Amino acid sequence: MSSVTKAVVPAAGLGTRFLPATKATPKEMLPIVDKPAIQYVVEEAVAAGLSDVLFITGRSKRSLEDHFDRNVELEAALAAKGDQARLELVSQATDLARIHYVRQLEALGLGHAVLCAEQHVGNESFAVLLGDDLIDQRDAVLPRMIEVQQRYGGSVVCLMEVEPHEISQYGAAAVEATDEVDVVRVTDLVEKPAVEEAPSGLAVIGRYVLSPDVFPVLRSTAPGRGGEIQLTDALRTLARDGSGVHGVLFRGRRYDTGNKLSYLQATVRIALDREDLGVEFRQWLQDLLAGAEK
Ligand code: G1P
Repeated sequence: MSSVTKAVVPAAGLGTRFLPATKATPKEMLPIVDKPAIQYVVEEAVAAGLSDVLFITGRSKRSLEDHFDRNVELEAALAAKGDQARLELVSQATDLARIHYVRQLEALGLGHAVLCAEQHVGNESFAVLLGDDLIDQRDAVLPRMIEVQQRYGGSVVCLMEVEPHEISQYGAAAVEATDEVDVVRVTDLVEKPAVEEAPSGLAVIGRYVLSPDVFPVLRSTAPGRGGEIQLTDALRTLARDGSGVHGVLFRGRRYDTGNKLSYLQATVRIALDREDLGVEFRQWLQDLLAGAEK
């Protein structure tokens, strides 16, 4: 039985890259095909055995809370029509997990958002899932990260090799090999380095399994890149003082929904994999690109 049961999902960002869509709608609620992006993330947490989900929210996140709540009126209307299939779709999000919320009163950075989880998490290791990264369910990485955390203790980040020009969008890790091919020891971390300052091409992607030791370190972490309290900086302190930060190397399918182009790519890739849409959509795309579709 894993001792990691809690997932923390920061969702307090303003989503300015998707304005005007995000003026009154949280970016986490933008759909990928027909499901809000954030539901994929909660489903991933639940599939990894994390049945307790804490959202760190901010202002204007009411529709996110409503999405994971019951909608009694809609349920009654669908039940009266005997529309069992849609009724199940509506209740899915509600029945997934035990969901909790805490508000981040000021947007002081990802490190600060994680610190807002302290009281709820207590003295247990916990997972953090960032909503901009979707991991294909066929390539689930959280179970492996939890396993690695149980074996080595400390904290575990998820690392992925990216193109040199991309590293400045991520936390970058300096690493040493371990006896396991997909596990490294992290010796240093730099938040969003210029390519010539990056310690490697290994980027931290949005999955973490953290030891509660991170909380006191976050409390004493000064604002870093962008004037924000960075989770990467706190993990760097833990990596350097020998408390142990390991990395799991991820080579699976990951869809970034954080900017417009990658959001479109994520939507197309997920739609192509859908049983109900994939075949027809693929044909249409092929025709479109061949110039046959007007
Ligand atoms: C955050 C982290 C960064 C990490 C990235 C993964 O950045 O600060 O270290 O590499 O998530 O998606 P953000 O994308 O929120 O700016």
